[in-house]
Amino acid sequence: MKPISIGAVVLVSVISIAVAGSYDYKDVLQKSLLFYEAQRSGKLPADQKVKWRKDSALKDKGQNGEDLTGGYFDAGDFVKFGFPMAFTTTILSWGLLDHHKGYESANSVSDCLKAIKWATDYFIKCHVSEYEYYGQVGSGTVDHAHWSRPEDMTEERPAYKITASQPAADLAGETAAAFAAASLVFRSTNSSYANTLLNHAKQMYDFAYKHRGLLTDAIPDSKCCYVSTHYEDELVWGAAWLYRATNDKTYLTYVDALWDSFKNMYGFDWDQKYAGAVVLLAKLTGDSKYKTAITNNCNYVFQQAARSNKGLLYLANWGPLRYAVNYAFVCLQAADLGINTQSYRTEAKKQLDYALGDAGRSYVIGFGNNPPTHAHHRAASCPDAPAVCNWDTYHGSQPNAHVLYGGMVGGPAKDDSFKDDRTDYQHTEVGCDYNACFQSMLAHFIELGN
Ligand SMILES: *[C@@H]1O[C@H](CO)[C@@H](O)[C@H](O)[C@H]1NC(C)=O
Repeated sequence: MKPISIGAVVLVSVISIAVAGSYDYKDVLQKSLLFYEAQRSGKLPADQKVKWRKDSALKDKGQNGEDLTGGYFDAGDFVKFGFPMAFTTTILSWGLLDHHKGYESANSVSDCLKAIKWATDYFIKCHVSEYEYYGQVGSGTVDHAHWSRPEDMTEERPAYKITASQPAADLAGETAAAFAAASLVFRSTNSSYANTLLNHAKQMYDFAYKHRGLLTDAIPDSKCCYVSTHYEDELVWGAAWLYRATNDKTYLTYVDALWDSFKNMYGFDWDQKYAGAVVLLAKLTGDSKYKTAITNNCNYVFQQAARSNKGLLYLANWGPLRYAVNYAFVCLQAADLGINTQSYRTEAKKQLDYALGDAGRSYVIGFGNNPPTHAHHRAASCPDAPAVCNWDTYHGSQPNAHVLYGGMVGGPAKDDSFKDDRTDYQHTEVGCDYNACFQSMLAHFIELGN
């Protein structure tokens, strides 16, 4: 990591106060990719740039001893939650697929391919047979009782799978979407890998469509952290991505069959796929039904949803920035289809720039003016061995030992206040899913020339 000189930091902060929105999006995009490197689990490759991270969780295994190393630690913890990891992968793929020029101008195409492949290589390992998929490694309750370096973990790391008799159509549907979107990404650079991904996508979709159930019932340990509410939205979203990857209209008949139970949903995040699905279907089919759905949803959120005093969309108190940038990204996709283009782009940029410093401080670690230094992130908080790292480290007032470049934290309270405190995980934690739409939106604005 190239250290940033003090002079540059001062310069950036002066500019960001003087001219709202004049941020170096390419720099932030590159840093966001470093964040994904810092979340890597398993054996790290020789070209790993984030050197303070070490090999970890090398014994992650399935119930029959299958190798389940790799993938991403979810957030500030070390659990590998397949559900948000799949959403992250779908969104990173979407961003690279449709905003390739943005990644090109930031010289970040190959790093983004690596970020996507780090997840899909792991998903392939988890998909041990047609109707058998490991959706989580590590237990939320066990993992969250420890505070240590990832390479020093000694706690038990159980692996949980879904099967035809214990199904989770939300998890399988989102994973099908991730496989399909990633297959499109790799089509031009590695066609054999793209074909492998597409085969997994088709099988996972079939699994999801035929064997319905909720993740929280199939893998109750996920309830600590990710309570998924429906699966119809993932079935529609997955079908949309499969349709994009195959051109097979059968997938659109699945969308039609699901439409009545789906049409009154909302949201766009690790749980809710509504807005992403309708805007993607609008793009792929041009059908006015989908255009109307995304227009109504974006208009509602942009015009009527709660906001902080300084204009941040405030859809939830836990990780508000992530919900704001998710909507900003998805409505930017609508803008690209000619739907309220100028106003949606203006609003999306406002949300992005809030995270980068417009409200007086940066919420992206290692970037801009007064960024967070106490993110709720176990690995970054721990000094290098042999120094002790435990709950005293967690509760200490010292800044994190390592700079987790590019991680966007949860964000402010509704009054725009922010306490840079490791124990306030609703506002200072990071997450793989938090950075996904954020990074894709950066690529989009870079492509538009900011
Ligand atoms: C394509 O992906 C496969 C599977 O990861 C890998 O073994 C192979 O080296 C890749 N080929 C190229 C040209 O990158």
